[in-house]
Amino acid sequence: MRYHTAVFSCILFALLWPGPTESAQWTCATCKGITERFAEKYAETEKGGYGGGNTDWEETYLKEYRRSEVRLLEIIEQLCKHDNHACHALVEEHEELLEEWWQKDESPHDNLYKWLCIDHVKTCCPNNTWGPGCRDCPIGREKVCSGHGKCDGEGTREGTGACTCDKGYQGALCEQCSIGHYEEYKNTTHVSCKGCHYGCNITCKGPGLEGCLACHKGYNYVQGQGCIDVDECQRETPAPCPQGFYCTNIVGAHKCFKCNEACDECFGPEANECKKCRENHVLLEGECKECDPLCKGCKGVGPENCVKCDEGKLADMVDGVCIECAPACHGCTGPGPENCKRCRMGFKQNKQGVCEDVDECKTICRLQHEVCTNTIGSYDCECEEGYERNVRDACVMKIPGQEDKPKRSQFDKYMKPNKHPKKMLTGKLRVEL
Ligand SMILES: *[C@@H]1O[C@H](CO)[C@@H](O)[C@H](O)[C@H]1NC(C)=O
Ligand SMILES: *[C@@H]1O[C@H](CO)[C@@H](O)[C@H](O)[C@H]1NC(C)=O
Ligand SMILES: *[C@@H]1O[C@H](CO)[C@@H](O)[C@H](O)[C@H]1NC(C)=O
Repeated sequence: MRYHTAVFSCILFALLWPGPTESAQWTCATCKGITERFAEKYAETEKGGYGGGNTDWEETYLKEYRRSEVRLLEIIEQLCKHDNHACHALVEEHEELLEEWWQKDESPHDNLYKWLCIDHVKTCCPNNTWGPGCRDCPIGREKVCSGHGKCDGEGTREGTGACTCDKGYQGALCEQCSIGHYEEYKNTTHVSCKGCHYGCNITCKGPGLEGCLACHKGYNYVQGQGCIDVDECQRETPAPCPQGFYCTNIVGAHKCFKCNEACDECFGPEANECKKCRENHVLLEGECKECDPLCKGCKGVGPENCVKCDEGKLADMVDGVCIECAPACHGCTGPGPENCKRCRMGFKQNKQGVCEDVDECKTICRLQHEVCTNTIGSYDCECEEGYERNVRDACVMKIPGQEDKPKRSQFDKYMKPNKHPKKMLTGKLRVEL
């Protein structure tokens, strides 16, 4: 029974009194914080709450106050922030140490930290030592971690003592350059590393592109010179830029920019920086000029400089100049239907040599219920109102309710050999025929 009561008391104690469970949580930083705050509060209480008077009474009072219990309690009360449990726990447990030190008449600025945190609470270690036994941090080139890293747990009773090197350094003592860095300088007390040039493929033996041991994309390795920027714009295949773009070399790469829209190839963005022109343009003093509309290719501007005439535009060459032929002509030697080389389909040469429209309705589209309309160069052949084409291409009476059958004869049906071949013209005449 007594045992149970004791256990219960212990549990109750633990629940109500967070101190002992929290105490394990204080660190060197907690202790250091306390000593710093001690120095701060010590300075703040210098005047003992009295504004700098000079009466004898005050002089006497301050002398007594300087190392008084009153002042110490005032300082201790303010050592921890309200919610800093580790701090409260440490102060509570080691209040006597603070009192003992207070008797020694030393300035807190100089000695409290060493006396309290290192020597007595034993939560910190002297500079450059680490761990429970305050062992020396690894020294390289006369400095901890060669001056290029941190010793794990340094100044505390914790850690592993291993060096964590700064960027660019590696090794147990941080005395070597890490990958991508080169040794810039080294003597018995000092080593310094620097990053390799971006153009190096990671490793280098010195600064700049000359120091590279291998090159990044966009650079070529040249023995004795290191990495040299590749001028991608000089490359033939594959072309560095797509058609209609020009190339600009930049260090380690290249960029493509759009040509003036008249050029297919160019040296720069301006209209007069063309190298090769777009179709139907001619290169004149670096500039791409549009050919005459009647030309198909040209050596200069105007219809007199065509390489060929555009047949699609009914143009033909007469005395070295492209002219527009009459619509009745297929090629011409001059303007008008009287100067045709040949007549276009749907036209026929009369006795005077003029290409005239043929009235197709006189000879074709003459079946029952067909209605023929002659047009210039062609004709229309439809069924009468109320009639429609059947599968044999005859015009037959429409059956009500089947409205949407084609009224005109259909092109594909007339493709069959020997069956009214000329009816192909029904519908729109195609100029290229
Ligand atoms: C210990 O190191 C700290 C921070 O690096 C420095 O401020 C302090 O002066 C050093 N103390 C001694 C005794 O060298
Ligand atoms: C090593 O180099 C450092 C940095 O340049 C210099 O401060 C130091 O005096 C040098 N030590 C020796 C022994 O040359
Ligand atoms: C850079 O080096 C790595 C490893 O050696 C290699 O795989 C890669 O292809 C190199 N890059 C270039 C651009 O040479």
